[in-house]
Amino acid sequence: MGISKSIDMHCHIMPGVDDGSPDLSTSIEMLKIAQREGIEQIILTPHFKPMHHNVRPQKNHLYTQKLQQKALESGINIKLYSGNEIYYCGETQEQLINGEICTLAGSNYVLVEFHPTDIYSNIHNAMYQIISAGYTPVLAHVERYSDIVSHPKYVEELISLGCYIQENASSIMGKYGFGIKHFTRKMLKEHRVHFVATDSHDKSSRAPLLSECRELVAKKYGEGYADTIFYRNQLAVINDEII
Ligand SMILES: [Fe+2]
Repeated sequence: MGISKSIDMHCHIMPGVDDGSPDLSTSIEMLKIAQREGIEQIILTPHFKPMHHNVRPQKNHLYTQKLQQKALESGINIKLYSGNEIYYCGETQEQLINGEICTLAGSNYVLVEFHPTDIYSNIHNAMYQIISAGYTPVLAHVERYSDIVSHPKYVEELISLGCYIQENASSIMGKYGFGIKHFTRKMLKEHRVHFVATDSHDKSSRAPLLSECRELVAKKYGEGYADTIFYRNQLAVINDEII
């Protein structure tokens, strides 16, 4: 059986803008890996953090275009889009409204992360604020927040609020230990996950791998669900459709 097609909506492949790919050649190597993994489209999501030198939307779009051109020249057939992984702070809503941060592929969806030790009430309130500002939040790597991992019921609450849930493929595959793996799989079993992404940062230890995870999800939780959370929901984001 051939590799199924996927879309990666959380990765740090854009060169030289954050702690992800340091240079163009690494980015091209990462895209080659992604192509072998069956990834057909990618939303580039460089970090956007308070007190950091962040890539601004105009540059983000320019760098996306440049990488797209270099990828085509290297024989890589992957469509690239701009985005950000937003580290939530008090200014996030204002920055979104002012167009200082990229949403996912220009859609209404935004990828949002928190500190791993942030308590649930802070995460809940922040998501409420983002929804109130008119955006659709996707919680990045849900398995990274210790309060949520200890209280899996919170995920249901966040979904009821209007949040979407993303897990990292590497966590599902057990890279961060049994507890995290167990949590990610419990969420998958209950169909509480909307997106699986690579969150790739390099071409080795945090490479853009999805195919093995997709096979596992298809086998354990169903082919249809795997297609939904590795491809169809991501396509809905790119098309700015409601999931
Ligand atoms: Fe990330």
